[in-house]
Amino acid sequence: MIKNIKEADLKNKKVLLRVDFNVPIKDGVILNDKRIRSSLETINYILSQKSKLIILSHLGRIKAEEDLKENNLDIVAKHLEKLLDQKVIFIPSTRGKKVENAINEMKNGEIVMLQNTRYEDFDMLTKQEVKLESKNNAELGKYWAGLCDIFVNDAFAVSHRECASICGIAQNKSEKYAGLLLTKELESISKLLKDVSHPYIAILGGAKVKDKIGVINALLSKADKILIGGAMMFTFLKAKGYNVGISKCEDEEVIEIAKEFLEKSNNKIVLPVDVVCNTHFKDEKGYKKNIDDISNIDMGLDIGTKTIEIYKNILSDAKTVVWNGPMGVFEMENYCNGTKRICEIVSNSTKNGAVTIVGGGETVTAVEKFSNDLRFSHISTGGGAFLEMLEEKSLPGIEILNF
Ligand code: 3PG
Repeated sequence: MIKNIKEADLKNKKVLLRVDFNVPIKDGVILNDKRIRSSLETINYILSQKSKLIILSHLGRIKAEEDLKENNLDIVAKHLEKLLDQKVIFIPSTRGKKVENAINEMKNGEIVMLQNTRYEDFDMLTKQEVKLESKNNAELGKYWAGLCDIFVNDAFAVSHRECASICGIAQNKSEKYAGLLLTKELESISKLLKDVSHPYIAILGGAKVKDKIGVINALLSKADKILIGGAMMFTFLKAKGYNVGISKCEDEEVIEIAKEFLEKSNNKIVLPVDVVCNTHFKDEKGYKKNIDDISNIDMGLDIGTKTIEIYKNILSDAKTVVWNGPMGVFEMENYCNGTKRICEIVSNSTKNGAVTIVGGGETVTAVEKFSNDLRFSHISTGGGAFLEMLEEKSLPGIEILNF
């Protein structure tokens, strides 16, 4: 059984909240703050209980010294400060005297945020990757647990990782709770998995089949159709023997896996019949090609209009829709149509009573970009965690919250 934060007595307590503020940042600008906004309800709830709030998050991956600067959490702390209209005391360390003093001096209602937990993955003295956070170093988890009275996990999106700031802290704390976002994610996705109404249509896009092998396997036995888009369509098309020109495509090993999926799919896997191409990767007007017309100089960058119509028909009577991965290069004006139209079509399915769940960083960015009166039953903040839930794997960060 997992306890919800609302069951805790937080008054006067030091509450350590693990969030997933692993947001896309370019040139110092946060491109999508959905994950930060999604945790505000939990943050505001903790603050309303007159407790002291300590926030931990990871950002990016730290494998070398040069990764430290661009994954400094200070930008995120400043952004949170703006969203909350309240001071966030940012401590640019993950442990040590500065951290301990800042926490000891906290008053109820104050927020202290520590540096990126993955700074612990790199040792500044030896200049080596040590992965103390990512490999759940026992001493580190114990140290962070010692900073607080109560641990709250609201970081659904990273709960598939067995890291010190999630599993390590929870292993050392008897007072541990699920935050409001984590609870909402678990309820929405578990409900979908428990009582699926058919037709159940999955839409998969994004770059690689390789990243989605587990979920495709799971969906082949559960969903009625799997509609494919994004660069991964070319791995499937090549597996069927089509020329994909210079489109992004995976290596022979993955093409073989795609072949096996197609063989056992019983026609569940539906591939595009046309694509929008260009001869180079630039945001310039492209041209349409049927998939059997793709030549050696063509690079497919979006699904075409005939494909969109076919997908629309399949989705027209859907009762359950799960969507992960954009249909094309949606960041480019000339190649966003497929993703935009799928957004609208899935949103219509919601309006017609279907349960629709969208997940994955890029998909959520796309949904927010095109969100003009769009509706979805649930927009998950998870990428890998969302896919692992769909595979019905148990997530270590969630398991450890159980009593
Ligand atoms: C995500 O973005 O999916 C989570 O924050 C986990 O990040 P990771 O894949 O770097 O562990």
